[in-house]
Amino acid sequence: MKKIKPTELRSQKWFNNPENPEMTALYLERYLNYGLTREELQSGKPIIAIAQTGSDLSPCNRHHIELAKRVRDGIIAAGGVPLEVPVHPIQETGKRPTASLDRNLAYLGLVETLFGYPLDGVVLTIGCDKTTPALLMAAATVNIPAIALSVGPMLNGWYEGERAGSGTVIWKAREKLASGEIDDDEFMNIAAASAPSVGYCNTMGTATTMNSLAEALGMQLPGAAAIPAPYRERGQISYETGKRIVDMVWEDLRPTDIMTREAFENAIVVNSALGGSTNAPIHLNGIAKHLGVQLNNDDWQAVGHSVPLLVNLQPAGKYLGEDFHRAGGVPAVIGELLQTDLLPHPNAITANGRTMLDNCSLLRTGNDDVILPVSAPLLQSAGFINLKGNLFDSAIMKTSVISAAFRKTYLSNPDDPEAFEGRAIVFDGPEDYHHRIDDEAEGIDQNCILVMRGAGPKGYPGGAEVVNMRAPSYLLKQGVEALPCIGDGRQSGTSGSPSILNASPEAADNGGLALLQTGDMIRIDLNACTANILVSDDILQARLEGLVAAGGFPIPVSQSPWQQYFREMVQPLSEGMTLRDAPNYQDIARK
Ligand code: FES
Ligand code: MG
Repeated sequence: MKKIKPTELRSQKWFNNPENPEMTALYLERYLNYGLTREELQSGKPIIAIAQTGSDLSPCNRHHIELAKRVRDGIIAAGGVPLEVPVHPIQETGKRPTASLDRNLAYLGLVETLFGYPLDGVVLTIGCDKTTPALLMAAATVNIPAIALSVGPMLNGWYEGERAGSGTVIWKAREKLASGEIDDDEFMNIAAASAPSVGYCNTMGTATTMNSLAEALGMQLPGAAAIPAPYRERGQISYETGKRIVDMVWEDLRPTDIMTREAFENAIVVNSALGGSTNAPIHLNGIAKHLGVQLNNDDWQAVGHSVPLLVNLQPAGKYLGEDFHRAGGVPAVIGELLQTDLLPHPNAITANGRTMLDNCSLLRTGNDDVILPVSAPLLQSAGFINLKGNLFDSAIMKTSVISAAFRKTYLSNPDDPEAFEGRAIVFDGPEDYHHRIDDEAEGIDQNCILVMRGAGPKGYPGGAEVVNMRAPSYLLKQGVEALPCIGDGRQSGTSGSPSILNASPEAADNGGLALLQTGDMIRIDLNACTANILVSDDILQARLEGLVAAGGFPIPVSQSPWQQYFREMVQPLSEGMTLRDAPNYQDIARK
């Protein structure tokens, strides 16, 4: 079903323009100097970019350097010409102050690449957390045919006979370190054990979440998300992805055809079934913005909250990436959701040209301890709720990870079973928290709510993953596991804490968190989905006037030009942390 003729290929405007032989010569000659032929560039073969996110600085995605060879083979086999192009590196764990700052930078760079060069289609090499949304946002803006390819998770990590999951082992071990149960060396050994091979985090953190959601959105071939990076099937799906993008160019199947409002609703449901990361709403809301699709945190609650948790992966469960793949991966989850009518839009089209129903209806779990049936899920109502009040307009919480101990301490008042009140302990950024948390003079006890502010997109900048604060070491030693946490920053997807996250507007925008003082009482009602400072409106208004008169909530100086531009342009986390005006450039390949 060819819709496009070779003469209509976008790249032919550069390489084969009979009306302007001079420009054609200029565009063409330098691409010949490393061995490409005129025949390849002028005979109407689709020119396909492999947007390469792998490098020595990006260990999670580095295996894409190898996989790109198979992608090339597939592109050539299908009659295309592959051109591998670098993407600005984004390494979740290595970038200061935070990789989140670079999602929009990589986005901007790839938009310029895809728009400004002779490209007909693109393979998006995704993996580490922000690489997936950065590349999908760019493909959405330019809107040339695009297909995503995950690098795949690492093999399962093991420590002392138990599965050691990325990130999750560190959150657990840091508490043992703080309470003196283990020393520094053992802490490092535990961390290293969770990273046994090439690939991205093997837990259901932000990487596994976003790669799975790229498949649930329809932007990957079925099954492409979960295959572990070193498995032979990873190379094979890379070849198939390369072949498929060439056909997508001929079919003129574009991101706007696949990533519709319906596709996002499917992805929200799949996210709940996966037990996906609290970073997912930020990134999916951001991708949607670049497509002109309306999507906000109310949609996440309305569409996703009631969906059960089916995937038993750490941090919410016990298994890791290899187990998820062997049990059938994303197609088995979607198959189960289709079987029970929980996938809202079975006829959503996907990158292979077929619908979700065509791809997944016959698929079921291969191991019902890893992917559970809807009739016996791990948890009910695994999605997020969207909290509102005078503390913020929007903040999300994953209620399904509230532990039994937490529920007993905070949510067991028979008259008010879903609400609790606590005294605010306010930290201005992560350094302030680390400085004060273990100081007994602060008087932090089990009646306190830890609040992190100054950690949002403008405050940090980029939004720090620091809201999941551990309790003071003296409380940990007494057996107190966790205190409630609220913040305008984010939380690592590998952390299982029931924190109230992504509060928008952030303190740096003089939001409600900026008006909070240590000692104020806060009331959280999970049934009404409210979060309020129990201080009168008059007092809050007076505090706001005082704050504005003092020049607003203090923001640290920017350390680089990009930090400054980012702060000037960035929108709140609830709005997807996109750049102001960027959504106006939607669909630029056709403008
Ligand atoms: Fe890169 Fe987790 S740190 S995927
Ligand atoms: Mg992270």
